Amino acid sequence: MDNFEAFMRSFFMCVKEDTFARLTLSKPTDPTSEVKKLIIKMILIKEKRHFSFVYRYETKDITKNYDIEEGGDSIIQLIQTDFGIANLFTELNHFSLEKQDNGKYKFKKQKQDGSVKATRSHDKQKKSLRSKDDYLKALGILNQKGNVQKDKGDKLKQVNKYVEIIDGILRKNESLDKIDPLHIVDMGSGKGYLTFALYDYLANTKGKKLRLQGIEMRSELVSICNKIADKVKFDHLTFEQGTIEEVQPSSIDVLIALHACDTATDDAILKGIQSEASLIICAPCCHKQVRKAMKDAPAVSPITQFGILKERQAELLTDTIRALILELYGYKAHIFEFISSEHTGKNLMITAIKHKGKVDKKRIQKEIDSIKTTFGIEEHYLENILS
Ligand SMILES: C[S@@+](CC[C@H](N)C(=O)[O-])C[C@H]1O[C@@H](n2cnc3c(N)ncnc32)[C@H](O)[C@@H]1O
Repeated sequence: MDNFEAFMRSFFMCVKEDTFARLTLSKPTDPTSEVKKLIIKMILIKEKRHFSFVYRYETKDITKNYDIEEGGDSIIQLIQTDFGIANLFTELNHFSLEKQDNGKYKFKKQKQDGSVKATRSHDKQKKSLRSKDDYLKALGILNQKGNVQKDKGDKLKQVNKYVEIIDGILRKNESLDKIDPLHIVDMGSGKGYLTFALYDYLANTKGKKLRLQGIEMRSELVSICNKIADKVKFDHLTFEQGTIEEVQPSSIDVLIALHACDTATDDAILKGIQSEASLIICAPCCHKQVRKAMKDAPAVSPITQFGILKERQAELLTDTIRALILELYGYKAHIFEFISSEHTGKNLMITAIKHKGKVDKKRIQKEIDSIKTTFGIEEHYLENILS
């Protein structure tokens, strides 16, 4: 029996004997894999054992449950092809398997000290992200019976996803999660769907102390949102009329700008950088500025001669440069699709977390300059307002 078989045998044995506690798979064989780690536990669904797979991404976790047979088949496959390291914890032993460069496996078995228990939590209904429905009714997302209004399903999905992402980032960044009270500013808050949902989750469900400010230039929306906040007693949620360019919030821990039009996203990023916000999150909207600033560049003109491709190209370039600029100012930036494109085309999200590490400004600036030259971009608005 080779090492791989020995490991799998230990796995199937502990499942059979019901001593399985946890299996973690790490070191993806594809270095570009978005799933960085997989944590597998065992849970009970309707009293039947299931594997619960938690797929760990850079910025989020996704959980999927499988019955024992299906999950077991996937595990064999995953260990064989997708991950280089597997750690299996049972009540009695810790088994590890590591794929070597020569394709062979290293296998180790260590006795447990008795502290690992094969607990079988019941799969509860997914905890609601919202503690109350009043504000969703007042915002017109739910009807008076508490059902989602016909045209608001996608918005509710988006809002839930945003809240999940922001919560995931806070959980993974302990120092940020500990800020008390946390000052969050949502720029271009519009009708306040996300602003209310985030407040409700953090303040009411999580019991976190926070101050959440929505900034919006349309006074009618500000007035409606303030009335709703008052009505549902969201005491530390306020909306202020003003433009992103003008506002000067005192200090910001988390800066959010979702679908703020065109360069309003840049204005919001500027405010985040200036107040050294620990976290900046934006979901860019239209990208007109860079498209207009793109002059014919020989390397890309065969692409940009087609209007729609020029538009897409401009979108990619705008957000790449935004992310690089954030890195230039000491942030670790990520760009990802936060929701399937079937719900909205505007589905890219940029998150940037402030770090204290060294920043290779020269290299980053060189990358920005090189992108601008290659693609014939005369100017990037964010760069201009930061200079
Ligand atoms: C597309 S909506 C998005 C609303 C909300 N953030 C969301 O994602 O559901 C953009 C909002 O930003 C506001 N807005 C755009 N530019 C702005 C600016 N420069 N200053 C303040 N508000 C702005 C608009 O009035 C609008 O309500």
